[in-house]
Amino acid sequence: MPSREVRGVSASRADVLAELGLAPRWVLRHAPVAPADPAGGAPSVSTTASGEGARRARIAALTWDGFAADVAACTACKLCATRKKTVPGTGDPQADWLFVGEAPGAEEDARGEPFVGQAGHLLDAMLAALGLDRARQVYIANVLKCRPPGNRTPEPAEVDACRPYLTRQIELIRPRLIVALGRAAASLLLGTDASIASLRGRVHRHGDLPVVVTYHPAYLLRTLPDKAKAWEDLVFAQTIIAGEAGTTPA
Ligand code: URA
Repeated sequence: MPSREVRGVSASRADVLAELGLAPRWVLRHAPVAPADPAGGAPSVSTTASGEGARRARIAALTWDGFAADVAACTACKLCATRKKTVPGTGDPQADWLFVGEAPGAEEDARGEPFVGQAGHLLDAMLAALGLDRARQVYIANVLKCRPPGNRTPEPAEVDACRPYLTRQIELIRPRLIVALGRAAASLLLGTDASIASLRGRVHRHGDLPVVVTYHPAYLLRTLPDKAKAWEDLVFAQTIIAGEAGTTPA
């Protein structure tokens, strides 16, 4: 079994899982498939000549070259007044896996990179256990590109203003699979307010892309027993990427 680097330490997959508190390893026996989610997919971009329509059209035409600068200049919601840095996303622009979280926290706001705090360390450890890292095969983004003060829940107007950026990222990356980390991501990608517990273990769709829903790493830090379920979800996602599980909605 190949060894991996976790926080600078060479570790086998078993070591990584032990660090996650997930030994003995959970084994996927059955891969259920979700029905199509009729509410899935983002709303269409407005083509009116209004300011918002023009903004959405501009974002819909962005390339990677202009993407981060456009986000950095964004003043479409009130979070621009309190952010330190925008956090557009990080990773492989041709990634197979797209992980979508909620919004930057304090450390992400300071550094301009997603998931670099405690929750990010857990996400990195889970990626390592899958043989992945944030620089290769993986892209990490958030529903919001700016930090809500005090890490409060994103407001609907903020989510709506930021939505075109995630939509464009998905179009540019064309990942093989999206992992929705927590409720904000699941709600935006699937158009549902259902609980994470009820959405886990099935393949959903965002447009034509498969989506797997799991718990947010920050939640897992507070709720250790659910770590094993999140690992189960990621192993399930890996079977989809590997083409071992059906992804056609029933
Ligand atoms: N939580 C998130 O949802 N995203 C981050 O980037 C950091 C913490």
